[in-house]
Parts: sequence; structure tokens; C-alpha cells
Amino acid sequence: MNFTFSPDQLHWQSTARTFAQDVVAPIARAMDENGSMPDSIVEQMAALGLLGGSLSKEFGGSGMDSLSLALIYAELGRACSSVRGFMTVHTSLVMKCIEQWGSSDQKNELLPQLASAKMIGCYALTEPEAGSDAASIKTQAEKTKDGYLLTGEKIWITNANLAGLAIVFAKLPQIEGTKPHTAITAFLVDTKTKGFTRKKMPGKELGHRASDHAHIVLKDCFVPANRVLGGEYHGFKVAMSALDHGRLGVAAGALGVHRACLDACVDFARSRKQFGSRIGDFEMVQAVIADMKTSLEASRYLVYNAAWKKDQGVACTLETSMAKLHATEAAVKAANEAVLLHGGRGYSNEYPVERYLRDIKGLQIYEGTSHIQKIVIARQVIGK
Ligand code: CAA
Repeated sequence: MNFTFSPDQLHWQSTARTFAQDVVAPIARAMDENGSMPDSIVEQMAALGLLGGSLSKEFGGSGMDSLSLALIYAELGRACSSVRGFMTVHTSLVMKCIEQWGSSDQKNELLPQLASAKMIGCYALTEPEAGSDAASIKTQAEKTKDGYLLTGEKIWITNANLAGLAIVFAKLPQIEGTKPHTAITAFLVDTKTKGFTRKKMPGKELGHRASDHAHIVLKDCFVPANRVLGGEYHGFKVAMSALDHGRLGVAAGALGVHRACLDACVDFARSRKQFGSRIGDFEMVQAVIADMKTSLEASRYLVYNAAWKKDQGVACTLETSMAKLHATEAAVKAANEAVLLHGGRGYSNEYPVERYLRDIKGLQIYEGTSHIQKIVIARQVIGK
């Protein structure tokens, strides 16, 4: 394991940093206030090759390694969690899932369109009554002569109002004597299909306000037979393995939020004067910054290690969940401290730290809450 960055890794980090700081950061506050992301952001990410991620070049991807992808997510997350979240769902959850489980026809047809952002992807697992307990989804798949009819509901589906393609998880009839999760099957659904409707989630989210989150209703939505992903009755493994890709992206995004909090606190500690001194001269402020920096480095090595392990082609569920758990929890703590350290200024949107705190709470919850990551980690360590 060697974390001296290669020329390729440095290239992707610097490309993402320039884009994030020059294009995304200046409009991050406006996007948060308007609750949307301009199309030009996606177009520019595609043009720079960022969205191609670690998808192989054969399918139009950028063929980067997992550490390069993590460096990109960290740079985007430092500027705006909504933009980073868009990319993680599209590039890691959706594209990598199709690359891993798709037939060659599915890969040849869909992946180049996704890599170039001609088509946006979303991943539809969560339902009103099935969040952490993913195996309990109720969406049904009824087999017909030439395909399937899907009926059910999905909520909190990131990118779904923009998406041309949805990976939808639904249940075929349960085979007697098997566990509920074994009935789950993954389907590649064209979002223009009759019976597929979507609308914005009701209410205003605490953070990630520029992200698109949708409520999908499926009513006898027809999916052709050749659009099963990974085979009938294999959908739970498809879903979980996709989350192994996505969770690493969330962990890397948390590094970015944490770094942004540290940068903001260091600037403030140097410039803000109280009691006749800059506040960075006070030991309580120094302690906050020391803890923030140390926990950021610990998160960083967990993320890099999980990315390195992924590139060795070996199972990395444990490393990924540890990275997501630690990086998001540490970043929540950092954002909380950052607001406090900024005092009244931190409590207003005059400074960005309140947005970092609102956004990071989302990373602690989606793609598996911290509690779920602890279950995954404990099962890997103790055995089930
Ligand atoms: N890769 C491949 N297979 C896996 C796997 C993985 N990472 N994890 C588990 N499996 C397999 C198991 O080996 C097991 O296989 P068998 O059928 O051969 O026994 C099978 O899946 C069932 O595993 P479990 O018994 O562990 O399943 P469980 O029902 O106890 O659930 C869980 C485990 C970890 C709690 C899981 O339900 C989970 O991760 N829940 C959280 C769901 C989640 O993250 N949802 C977020 C969705 S995305 C989102 O937030 C919004 C968005 O738009 C992106």
C-alpha cells in the first residue's frame, strides 16, 4: 500500500479541484437556496471525464482507479455535497453496478450513454416501509409472456426526476422455504415507460437542497425480459454490492465536507479577534482544530485503504463500511464544532459552515445509516 499519488491520481484530483473551486463553490450557496443544480454542472463534469469514473474505457468510462475516484468525490464534497451526491449515485451506484452485473448487451447499450451523461441513472431501492431493512421491500414483479410488470412505490430516490434509467428492485413470487430477500430481482427500467411516474419528495430537506430526490410510483410498469440485471432472484446481492461502490463515494465525500470545515475554522481562527487576540491563540480553539485535523487524517486513511482494497479485486465490504462510518461521524462532529467555533456567524448563512452541518447529516443517513454500517462491520468481524 503506497499513498504517494501517481501522476494519474494527481491529474484527477487537480481536475476535480479546479472544477469544484472555480465552478461549483461560487454557486454552492445559490444552489442550496434555489434547491436545484444547473444542467451545465452535469455537462461540464461529463466533458471533463469525471462522470466516467472507474468504469472501463471499453464502455466509455474514464478507467481511473478507485483512489482517483475517491479524490474526485472529496474535492466535489468540499465544495458542494449535492453535486458530489449526484455523481456518486450516477457513477458509482448505477454505472458500476451495471458494469459488474450487466449482460454484454446491457453494458454495450447503456454504459456509454451513462458515461457521457446523455442519460442519467438512479438507483431505486428504498420504499416507504423499507429503509434500513432493504429485504422487506414490497414492490412486486409479475411475470408476463415477454417481460415483467412492476407495481410499487419508491422514495428518496436521488436523481430520479432527471434519470432516463432506473435500477428498480422488486420481488418475484417467493420460492417456498426461502428467505424474503431471495425474491428480490433488479430491473433496468426506462423511466419513460407507461406506469412509471415520479415527483419531487414533499417537504424541504435539512441539507442537500440542490439534489433531486423523488418519489416514484410504479403501476403495471412493463420491463422487457432482457432488462433483468444480474438474473432473477439475485437482486439483493446486486443491491448490496452496488452499495459497496456507493458507500465508498459517500465516505470520500465526507472527507471533503470535513476538510471544508477545517479550512473555514483555520481561516476564522486566524482572522477573528476577541479579548485582544486572534482566537486561534486560545487553547480551547486550538484543541478543536487539533481534533478536527487528526480525525480528518484518520478518515482519510480509512477511505484510501478501502479504495486500495477495491482495486485489488478482493472483498472490501468491511473496509468500505468502516470508512463510511468513521468519515461521516467524524465530519458531523467537525461540522458541529465548526458552527460553534464561528459563534453567531456560524449560525447564519453568511458563512458556509451551517450548510456543511446540514449537508453532512445526510451522508450519515443515506446509503445505510451509521447504525447499519455498525451492523455490517460487526457481522464481518464476528460472523453472522
Ligand atoms: N455484497 C454481496 N452480497 C451481499 C452483501 C454485499 N455487500 N451483503 C450481504 N450480501 C448477501 C449475503 O451474503 C446474503 O447472501 P445469501 O442469500 O447467500 O445468504 C444476503 O445478501 C442477505 O444478507 P443479510 O442476511 O446480511 O441481509 P439482511 O436482510 O440482514 O440485511 C443489511 C443486511 C446490511 C442491514 C442491509 O439490509 C442494508 O444494507 N440495509 C441498508 C440499506 C441501504 O443502505 N439503503 C439505502 C439505499 S440508497 C439511498 O439511500 C438513496 C439513493 O438514492 C442512493
